[in-house]
Amino acid sequence: MSSEAVIQIDRLNKSFPIYEKPFHRLCQMLSPRQAKHRWYREFQALKNIDLQVRRGETLGIVGRNGSGKSTLLQIICGTLSPSSGQVRVDGRIAALLELGAGFNPEFTGRENVFLYGAVLGLTRQQVEERFDDIVAFADIGEFVEQPVKSYSSGMYVRLAFAVAINVTPDILVVDEALSVGDEAFQRKCFARINRIRDDGATVLFVSHSAGIVTQLCDRALLLDRGEMLASGSPKFVVSRYHKMLYVPVDRANQVREMIRGEREDASELEAPSSLSQIDREDADLVRSATTEPEGGREHAPKSAGWFDEGMEPKSTVRYDARGATIVHPHIQTLEGTKVNVLRGGGEYVYTYRVQFDQPAFLVRFGMLIKTLTGLELGGGATNLPRAIPAIEAGGEMEVRFRFRCLLDGGTYFLNAGVLANVGGEETYIDRLIDAAMFRVMPEPERTATGLVDFCVVPDVVVPLSSKVSV
Ligand SMILES: Nc1ncnc2c1ncn2[C@@H]1O[C@H](COP(=O)(O)OP(=O)(O)OP(=O)(O)O)[C@@H](O)[C@H]1O
Ligand SMILES: [Mg+2]
Repeated sequence: MSSEAVIQIDRLNKSFPIYEKPFHRLCQMLSPRQAKHRWYREFQALKNIDLQVRRGETLGIVGRNGSGKSTLLQIICGTLSPSSGQVRVDGRIAALLELGAGFNPEFTGRENVFLYGAVLGLTRQQVEERFDDIVAFADIGEFVEQPVKSYSSGMYVRLAFAVAINVTPDILVVDEALSVGDEAFQRKCFARINRIRDDGATVLFVSHSAGIVTQLCDRALLLDRGEMLASGSPKFVVSRYHKMLYVPVDRANQVREMIRGEREDASELEAPSSLSQIDREDADLVRSATTEPEGGREHAPKSAGWFDEGMEPKSTVRYDARGATIVHPHIQTLEGTKVNVLRGGGEYVYTYRVQFDQPAFLVRFGMLIKTLTGLELGGGATNLPRAIPAIEAGGEMEVRFRFRCLLDGGTYFLNAGVLANVGGEETYIDRLIDAAMFRVMPEPERTATGLVDFCVVPDVVVPLSSKVSV
């Protein structure tokens, strides 16, 4: 294994015995070892997988249900053994494989933290040192003293995640677990995953969400019926994944064959005119697939929005304040009503106050809007010529950023920051990450695709031949 590779997999195969009838399992157990007749058939869940994951890489794994993603992760984590092939892993793995894997339902949350900590290779003392952080992150209150069998699935995941990410793993493996928590908790988890990754850990991430894989991962691979059908940049792999998801059954093998024969090249990242044939063919399918389904979402409110009390970010981080404090960050309608459920296309004001307890010079204010996974969508700041020359200690300011909400339905997070000149250098004198969160209600009338509405106006197509009827 090269020094850079933390996971090295060569010619990995995994088969499971499939018994037609339950009693066949018993028959097999009772059969003599040399018996020719087998009471099962073999199902190959992973076929000849070669994979190398480098230190510090974030790898996304996509594929339809049953394509072998969890089986692969379980083999990497050592909870399943391969049928053949080599798997070498270098470093401490923390895994979130399935709901509360490693938890004993009869034990309390507290006992399970120690149990799971031990499974992840921590000593009792190490768990004790981290216990308060773990419980604070899980944010399950008094329930930590209750048996985990009384937990909701969200609470299970919270606690399991809190333990897994507090062991400072070399390799973090996450299998879809995040989809169970609420959005504020998910944001907190993504923020922590980003931090673990920035600290140099390797992250393996299984997700059905194309958006999350493209935003979070450096590289991705597509599993299809146990085969590694494609690997490369997340964008390349996700488009092939969508193709496999939406291809008509009678064309599936043909498309599989095309993907197998493809190689990602630089042209993938360029304009649509340079898309490969496979892309052009199925462009419509891919386009529709990149828009998440609308299931269960409410329709846009007639009013400009409203306020949902329960929607508070749990991932707020304040950087070391240096003489200024940002308070009360929130969104208002133009009429001044506080809201956090917004209507797509509407105009709003993001506002916060800043209290200065030291004098500050050349002061500027900023804001930033991000997705759940931390992707920075855009923001704004007062520019230098309009910086406030001086503010005295005891001063207080209200900052207002007017913006148009050109976002797709979903949950978003806001940062707030105050910059000033300290000792000749511009620096943050207060900064709040995830200061506020808001939800955008989906617009049934929306014509834009993707997260941000660029106000694209489709032009009327002028028929270029008499064969087009308009
Ligand atoms: N213990 C087992 N015995 C028999 N078959 C199994 C076993 N575990 C997994 N399989 C089969 O192996 C295949 C791959 O399963 P796996 O759980 O890895 O899929 P997956 O890609 O994680 O799917 P999902 O997206 O639904 O989580 C499936 O067809 C599954 O039925
Ligand atoms: Mg799975």
